[in-house]
Amino acid sequence: MQLALTRPDDWHLHLRDGAALTAVLPWSARQFARAIVMPNLKPPVTTVAMAAEYRARILAALPAGASFAPLMTLYLTDSTSPAEITKAVASGFVKAVKLYPAGATTHSDLGVTRIARVYGVLAEMESQGLPLLAHGEATDPAIDLFDREKAFIDATLVPLIARFPRLRVVMEHITTADAAQFVAASGPNIAATVTAHHLLYNRNALFQGGLRPHWYCLPVLKRERHRQALLAAVASGNPRFFLGTDSAPHATRAKEAACGCAGCFTAHAALELYAEAFEQANALDKLEAFASFNGPDFYGLPRNTGSVILEKTPTPVPDVLPYLPGDSLTPLKAGETLAWKMRS
Ligand code: NCD
Ligand code: ZN
Repeated sequence: MQLALTRPDDWHLHLRDGAALTAVLPWSARQFARAIVMPNLKPPVTTVAMAAEYRARILAALPAGASFAPLMTLYLTDSTSPAEITKAVASGFVKAVKLYPAGATTHSDLGVTRIARVYGVLAEMESQGLPLLAHGEATDPAIDLFDREKAFIDATLVPLIARFPRLRVVMEHITTADAAQFVAASGPNIAATVTAHHLLYNRNALFQGGLRPHWYCLPVLKRERHRQALLAAVASGNPRFFLGTDSAPHATRAKEAACGCAGCFTAHAALELYAEAFEQANALDKLEAFASFNGPDFYGLPRNTGSVILEKTPTPVPDVLPYLPGDSLTPLKAGETLAWKMRS
């Protein structure tokens, strides 16, 4: 069996920097024409000037002959100014602003401490049409980890959208039936990205025969009924759900640790993993729009030309991939077999 897709894009990707960037970028450039690049570096990408420099480093790290366009994002902080938003829109290469509630995830310590502190910036984004990408998890340590996405929707997102009804918002990497229903019931300016791992796994994967750090990411995997709701959301063909891998590399050593880092690396086989999930949902006919049309349509960008071909061929995943000197990278499904393979 074969599947031809218009060349897809990844609307949520962590590329890191330096040697890590050089190691992981070819995996994404092989499959995707463009990616929304997350700004959670150390220090975070908080200004248009920093985004321009990061973009240049990404372009310089591309393998010869690769055609891949990084779409940049700004990391929202309590002190981001509305003027920076005007600059971002004028730049042409900054396509969104990322909201990390402070403390929600990897490198989010400089994120927003109270949403009211960024109302001025959000008003400017609303009037300029610049999308807000939300890491949608509440950060109150008293809230159960598995309930934090719903808590964010109720306590932060609903009031936010009421205050800024024309703000374009993408709920990133949704993991719950609550989020899927919220987005489906919202207007045309509210969308969501869905990762392959949240479509393929429920929280049992974290404890399969022992503690499994390579399945640990944030937001954490949820119950099977939530996974089923995500599959139903993407299988519905609703154009406000689109592909965002959240591929988030960490050295094998940093994951297999007493306090392991959050993030699954999936860029080595992103399309193959999505194809497996869509096939499971009997929705392979919806994969192309999810991967290649819905994202650019929401962002107001042209769809790609050209295509990629997926073949149903058992394909082994290596145990580790090269990453940093002295540090390997463990890909999702390491040592297992993929059902699909993208033709190179
Ligand atoms: C991401 C990372 O490592 O940067 N980790 C993750 O578990 N997804 C951060 C994020 O997107 O939350
Ligand atoms: Zn992410």
